[in-house]
Amino acid sequence: MRRALVTGAARGIGLATTRLFLEEGYRVVMVDRDAPALAEAADGLAGVVPVVADVSIPAEVARMVEEAGLSDGLHALVNNAGVADFGPIEATDFTRWRRVMETNLDGVFLVSQALTPALRAGRGAIVNIASISGLRASTLRVAYGTSKAGVIQLTQQQAVELGEHGVRANCVCPGPVRTKLAMAVHTQDIIDAYHDAIPLNRYGSEREIAEAIAFLCSERASYITGQVLAVDGGFEAAGVGLPALRR
Ligand SMILES: NC(=O)c1ccc[n+]([C@@H]2O[C@H](COP(=O)([O-])OP(=O)(O)OC[C@H]3O[C@@H](n4cnc5c(N)ncnc54)[C@H](O)[C@@H]3O)[C@@H](O)[C@H]2O)c1
Repeated sequence: MRRALVTGAARGIGLATTRLFLEEGYRVVMVDRDAPALAEAADGLAGVVPVVADVSIPAEVARMVEEAGLSDGLHALVNNAGVADFGPIEATDFTRWRRVMETNLDGVFLVSQALTPALRAGRGAIVNIASISGLRASTLRVAYGTSKAGVIQLTQQQAVELGEHGVRANCVCPGPVRTKLAMAVHTQDIIDAYHDAIPLNRYGSEREIAEAIAFLCSERASYITGQVLAVDGGFEAAGVGLPALRR
């Protein structure tokens, strides 16, 4: 049986990815630091192992690996846990900067490192969740965008170093999705501007992001590693996206 571990699995993109893996016959270790939300999400899902852990704390990551019970190998690791905090450079004090970095970047490093033996044993695949904010700069994202750009580079480092052990690593960069994370930082003005700037003229769904993640973890992607896939309705492709240049 194929085994997956998804961080930030209690809701949003992580929960949608868990559900898709279950449909595909995986057993899924669901990791999240929000214990009540994780218990509620895991309730009624057959084939899951919920583990409460904060991916930014090394000791909790070590305990998570023990509780996950993956000594027979891991086939898919999805580093999805993330936080968003949008603010101007001068208002982003070091506490805010670290709060974003410790989950979005440190967490991906720590969890991947701790699970590398299991990934090697399973000849598994890593999919790290970055963002279009890691591909294109924007105002208010000095910490968030920089953390996600770091995730893109970290993915490539993992791909280059772990390839000889049969471990692939790829990165998915979602465009906007109406999750709790996004809705906390997207005002109506931002939502309208995204609809205007995205060639498909809409937000994506959690399921659309999960489909790309599951593909990159699957055997169908067996020769794909070190790649960055924007799942963004065409946002990244639209370099000069001025409304005045349409038609
Ligand atoms: N929603 C979007 O528009 C969007 C766009 C681009 C990228 N992303 C990325 O997708 C990923 C998932 O985002 P989402 O929108 O589903 O968010 P969400 O807030 O709905 O879910 C994130 C989950 O991660 C958990 N989490 C956060 N920090 C954690 C930590 N340190 N340890 C363990 N669990 C932790 C939260 O408890 C939550 O359950 C994030 O990495 C986010 O940056 C989201």
